[in-house]
Amino acid sequence: MSVTFSLNGKPVTFDGPDDVPLLWAVREHFSLTGSKFGCGIGMCGACTMHLDGAAVRTCVMAVGHVRGRAVTTIEGLPTDETNPVHQAWNELDVPQCGYCQSGMIMATTSLLARNPNPTDQDIDQTITNLCRCATYIRIRAAIHAAAR
Ligand code: FES
Repeated sequence: MSVTFSLNGKPVTFDGPDDVPLLWAVREHFSLTGSKFGCGIGMCGACTMHLDGAAVRTCVMAVGHVRGRAVTTIEGLPTDETNPVHQAWNELDVPQCGYCQSGMIMATTSLLARNPNPTDQDIDQTITNLCRCATYIRIRAAIHAAAR
């Protein structure tokens, strides 16, 4: 079987079983390794990408599920001044080890697209990704900075 979908704005075709996790299809087949493997059970958020603009955990999503849809990875986001999330992350030195941060940024970008001025409660309820370095306070501050 094959699965055709949009990946970072370009049409791509994955040749393989429909039930391969999207994370592995993107990392192994398309060599986009910014999205990380953490838990593999949908708990940590390291694998977060956007599916039609919504943050999704791709270690538990079959690639067949995205047929005909739009997937965006961290590599598909702008890195210049047009992206306030990247700017805020840099200005506030958010990452420590950095492993979870692409997932954090993808979850944040999706949140701000739906809620441009989130409260602390909105952030805590929506950004449920895990960070072993416990950068949560800086993440919250960066989300508020990006929202300004
Ligand atoms: Fe997907 Fe943890 S690796 S949620």
